[in-house]
Amino acid sequence: MKIILLGAPGAGKGTQAQFLKQKFNIPQIATGDMLRSAVADKSELGIKAKKFMDDGQLVPDKLIIDLVKLRITEHDCKNGFLLDGFPRTIPQAEAMRDEGININVVIEIKVPDQTIIERLSGRRIHPASGRIYHITNNPPKNEGFDDTTDEPLITRSDDTEETILKRLGAYHRETEPLINFYSSWANQNTDTRPIFFSIDGSLKAIEINNILSDKIS
Ligand code: AP5
Ligand code: MG
Repeated sequence: MKIILLGAPGAGKGTQAQFLKQKFNIPQIATGDMLRSAVADKSELGIKAKKFMDDGQLVPDKLIIDLVKLRITEHDCKNGFLLDGFPRTIPQAEAMRDEGININVVIEIKVPDQTIIERLSGRRIHPASGRIYHITNNPPKNEGFDDTTDEPLITRSDDTEETILKRLGAYHRETEPLINFYSSWANQNTDTRPIFFSIDGSLKAIEINNILSDKIS
């Protein structure tokens, strides 16, 4: 099972990925998480990516495509994977198609821009596990601490209002065209076509999860 989660910053890709990776027993490949860990390690990739991420812009395609190509050759991807935050541009989607990587399901999570700022300004994360919380929608049991490890939660450095607006701009400009790319492909009469559907991301996280579980089997 190869799944792509498409959606604006804060649409709930990471939140739904946590359900789906368990349901299908496939790894979550979250390019944002991979880049943040490269930044923390001060690796060559991290140093190159940091300035784009801090500015709410996309990291250049070449860096990301190489990163994902390498990641999906790892052993845990042999039964499939869940792509969260990739592809994010037409060249990234074309690179995957040209490599012959056939995707089974593409899910667009749709959320109005007004909801995004409220969601991202209240988000808290546990960096080591990727667990995602929200101060009111999905609070941890102990304020400021992870439910499982009791380690401190952090606010992502790109979750400031100024950077959120830039990330939304990049989404509309560069990622939204992928909706047409995949929905048109889904309507073609080819063996490689994916299933494409959109889901209302303003529903409760658990409701979205139930709908996804019904739709994908
Ligand atoms: P990335 O980490 O992918 O960030 P993003 O796309 O901006 O998306 P987010 O992780 O912010 O949101 P999400 O949809 O996962 O929402 P979440 O589930 O956390 O990328 C970061 C940066 O890396 C990019 O800006 C770019 O620079 C670079 N990058 C990454 N991939 C790249 C690529 N392929 N190409 C180029 N550059 C790339 O939920 C958000 C909040 O809402 C949480 O608090 C959650 O609890 C809450 N919430 C979730 N669902 C619901 C719900 N249904 N109802 C109420 N609250 C909810
Ligand atoms: Mg995410």
